[in-house]
Amino acid sequence: MSEVGRDPLDFIVIGASGDLARRKIYPALFSLYCQGLLPERFSVYGLARSAMDNDQFRERISSALTCRYVPGHSCGDYIRKFLDRCHYLSGAYDSADSFLSLFQLMREEGGPQLPNMVFYLAIPPAIFVDVARSIGNAGLVRCGGGDPWSRVVIEKPFGRDRQSSDHLTHELANVFTEEQTYRIDHYLGKEVIQNLMVLRFANLVFEPIWNRKYIERVWVDWRENIGIEGRAGYFDNYGIIRDVVQNHLLQIVAMIAMERPKISDARHIRDEKVKVLKSINFVSKADVVLGQYTASKWKDKQRIGYKEEDGVPADSITPTFAATRLYVDNERWKGVPFIIRAGKGMNRRENEVRLQFRDVEDNIFGMGARHLPSNELVIRIQPDEGVFLSIVSKQPGLDVVLEKTDLNLRYQLAFGASIPDAYECLLMDVIEGDKSLFIRSDELEAAWDIFTPVLQRFSEERVMPAEYEFGSLGPAIDRIL
Ligand SMILES: NC(=O)c1ccc[n+]([C@@H]2O[C@H](COP(=O)([O-])OP(=O)(O)OC[C@H]3O[C@@H](n4cnc5c(N)ncnc54)[C@H](OP(=O)(O)O)[C@@H]3O)[C@@H](O)[C@H]2O)c1
Repeated sequence: MSEVGRDPLDFIVIGASGDLARRKIYPALFSLYCQGLLPERFSVYGLARSAMDNDQFRERISSALTCRYVPGHSCGDYIRKFLDRCHYLSGAYDSADSFLSLFQLMREEGGPQLPNMVFYLAIPPAIFVDVARSIGNAGLVRCGGGDPWSRVVIEKPFGRDRQSSDHLTHELANVFTEEQTYRIDHYLGKEVIQNLMVLRFANLVFEPIWNRKYIERVWVDWRENIGIEGRAGYFDNYGIIRDVVQNHLLQIVAMIAMERPKISDARHIRDEKVKVLKSINFVSKADVVLGQYTASKWKDKQRIGYKEEDGVPADSITPTFAATRLYVDNERWKGVPFIIRAGKGMNRRENEVRLQFRDVEDNIFGMGARHLPSNELVIRIQPDEGVFLSIVSKQPGLDVVLEKTDLNLRYQLAFGASIPDAYECLLMDVIEGDKSLFIRSDELEAAWDIFTPVLQRFSEERVMPAEYEFGSLGPAIDRIL
C-alpha cells in the first residue's frame, strides 16, 4: 500500500475508445479511486485512433461509472474529480510519434517527476506487437524492477495455438520483461475463484478428501444463453475452446487440482499451477464433443443459428459448444475425469465447478448406496456466487427417509453487496505488483500444449460440430463420460 500511496501513477489505456475500456477498465479505476486506493497523483491517459476531445472522452467514461462505493450526493463530486484526471489523445498505434506525443501530454499534465506507468492494451490482439514496439521505440519502458516502474497488461486471447502464442510472447519480450508483463485472465479475479485456495488450504475439512480416493469426477461448466452478440469477426476465428476452455476453464482446473503452494505468493502459486497443467495429458479427438447452435424458438422468441449470425460464413465449422474430458496424471488425481463443458446459445447462463464424491460403501440404511445421491461440492462462479455442499440427511418424520439437502454459502446473503468486480481486484494487483492472479509464460505454454494438437486436427479434418438447438442443453456428451 505504501508504494501505491506515495508515487505518481499514470494509467495509460491503449484502445481507449473500445468496449473493454468503457465497460470494465474505467469503472474499476473509479471504484479504486472512490475507495482511496489510488495514489494522490493519479491520472488516466487514453489513446486510440478515434477523433475525440477530452470532453467527449470524459463523457464516454462517465456513462459507465457507478456510485457503488460512494452512494448519495458525494458521488457527483467523486465523478467530477475523477474525470478531471482523465485525458485523451488520438493517434496511430504503430507510430512511436503517437507515444512521444502522449508522453509530452503526460509531462504537461503531471509535471517533471516521472510517474509509474501501466500500459493497458485494450485492443485486438492482432495489434499487440505493433503497440508494444511503438511504446518501446518511444523510449517509455523502464527496464528492471526499479523506480519508477512500467508495466503492460494484456487480455486473452494470447495466440491461437502454441506456435502463435510463443511468437506473441517472444515479440512482447523484446519490449517488456516477463516481470513487467501482466496477462489477465479475468476469471482469476472473481471472488469465488480467489476463495478456492482459502477454501482448500485454510479449512481442515476439505483437503483430506480432495483426491481420487473420495472424488469420482469433477465438472467445470460454463454456459451462456446468448449467441455471439455481433462478435463474429473474433469468434469465428477462435471458437469456444480457444475463447473459454483453454484459458478461463483450464485455469479453474489448475486451481482445483493444484497442490498446496509452500507460500501463498505469486511464484509458488504459479509453480503449482504449471505442475498441474504439465500433468494433464494432451486432449485427443476422442476426448472432445463439439457442437454448434442452430435456429430455434426459445422463450417465445425466434433465435437464429450460428451460421445465420451476421459475418459468419455459411459453411463455418467453428464450435460454439465443446465438452472435453481431461485427466491430471498425478498421484492425487490419477483416473479422475475432469469434464469441462462450455457453450453459447444454451438454456441458461451459469458457470460452476462441481466436485462429485464417490458413493458411501456398505450403507447401513438398507437402501443400497447406489440409491442415495452422492455428495457434491458446488462452487458457483456466476450468477449468484456461492459454495454449496450437498449432503444426505434424514427427512423429518417417523420413518427413516433419506434425501439430498444443501449446506449453503450464498455470497449475496453472507457478504451483502460488497463483492468487488474482478477488474477492481486485478487492476489493484497490477498497481501493487502482485502477479499471483496473472498468467506466467510457462503456464501459457503448458495450457496451449494440452489443446494445440486436437485443435490442429479438427481444423485439418474440417470436423463438423454436432448441431444443437439454441436454448437447449447442447449435444449429447455420453461418449466422453
Ligand atoms: N470486451 C470484452 O468484454 C473483452 C473480454 C475479454 C477479453 N477482451 C479482450 O480485450 C481487448 C479489447 O477488447 P474490446 O472489446 O475493447 O475491443 P474493441 O472494442 O474491438 O477494440 C478496442 C479499440 O481498438 C481499436 N480497434 C479495433 N479494431 C481495430 C483494428 N482492426 N485495428 C486497429 N485498431 C482497432 C478501436 O479503437 P480506434 O478505432 O479508436 O483506434 C477500438 O475502439 C481484446 O484483446 C479482447 O480480446 C475483451
